[in-house]
Amino acid sequence: MTHKRIAIVPGDGIGIDVTAEAVKVLQVCAEVTGNQIELVHYDYGADKYVKTGISMPPGGYDDLRKYDAIFMGAFGDPRVPDMKHAADILLGTRFVLDLYVNYRPVKLYDEALCPLKGIKPGDIDIAIFRENTEGLYVGVGGIFKKNTPEEIAVQEDVNTRKGVQRIIEYAFEFAVKNGRKKVLMSDKANVLTYGHDLWQRVFKEVSQKYPQIESSHMYVDALSMQLLLHPQNFDVIVTCNMFGDIITDIGAALQGGLGMAASANIHPGGPAMFEPVHGSAPKYAGKDVANPFGAILTVQLMMEHLQLNREAQLIEDAVQKAIAEKKTTHDLGGSLGTRAVGDFLSASIRAAK
Ligand code: NAD
Ligand code: IPM
Ligand code: MN
Repeated sequence: MTHKRIAIVPGDGIGIDVTAEAVKVLQVCAEVTGNQIELVHYDYGADKYVKTGISMPPGGYDDLRKYDAIFMGAFGDPRVPDMKHAADILLGTRFVLDLYVNYRPVKLYDEALCPLKGIKPGDIDIAIFRENTEGLYVGVGGIFKKNTPEEIAVQEDVNTRKGVQRIIEYAFEFAVKNGRKKVLMSDKANVLTYGHDLWQRVFKEVSQKYPQIESSHMYVDALSMQLLLHPQNFDVIVTCNMFGDIITDIGAALQGGLGMAASANIHPGGPAMFEPVHGSAPKYAGKDVANPFGAILTVQLMMEHLQLNREAQLIEDAVQKAIAEKKTTHDLGGSLGTRAVGDFLSASIRAAK
């Protein structure tokens, strides 16, 4: 029997609401399969930060590293306008654990969920790989002459050959292992003539090692438009940290909104961290209205990653059933609350036993 230990960090706002349902569903899965999945909760988030000044305690990252996987809800709270706690907890975990792969699948489960006309499930099944440890996210820069008319604010875009190469290679390896046919790299090399020139050269080098995979390129502005016009044309996409952040919100919209989108932060061989793509949506916090599917499909990714394939299948089947039967929250056109959706999924999983 498998025994896995998972750290759970619900975080802030609706992160707390959706994590409760994700945990509920995960526990039901374990009950059904008999696998032991031990969950350890952490209270890292805005509340703790505001009360104690602690975002991540000393040794916090090394503690998280000991788990088989980490699940995080969402971070962001009006009481912490500079997002200092989120930078430490969320970005800090990505950086310190060197989780260089941000895998964000875009999969359409039902025609009714796509805002575009005539798009069917099966038409949209895109794997987006976002570089997760470099680029504009590294926090290199500074402000000079702050609050004066001569103020200068500099934020550096850091691209290393190692960093660019490993995410591009990961995207190609994913394509090979998963029977995908195409890998598209997106950048803005026409303007970012140093940083993204590196992406161009490395992509060319790596793609030559995978002649069986069709490789192509689009500037990110063109890609954003094409994703909205012809999402069916895309298979695997690899891009930098900032562009990946932006295009995965477009991807979320294509599959039914931010409440649907899942993500995994991976370093091969080490513990991975899983989080829905959406944020803490403070105005919906604690109101039992947030869509928990993104968080629950994130648990599905986590189960797949831990090779708990039965659990992963049970979750996906239950989500599909809920969507087909319109047992959904308001954002998807249903009339259920967050908790009732979690209960419906739990009952479906128990019934599938
Ligand atoms: P958001 O994702 O929190 O919400 C944007 C809008 O999307 C919401 O107003 C709502 O209409 C919709 N939405 C998002 N998730 C939903 C769900 N599960 N169910 C139903 N509707 C949902 O983005 P924002 O408003 O730009 O950011 C709010 C806070 O979250 C900010 O502090 C931001 O920095 C933070 N944030 C955190 C993460 C994260 O922790 N991973 C991700 C994105 C944003
Ligand atoms: C995401 C979020 C984060 C990011 C923020 C909250 C730091 O938008 O995970 O998509 O930009 O990576
Ligand atoms: Mn984002």
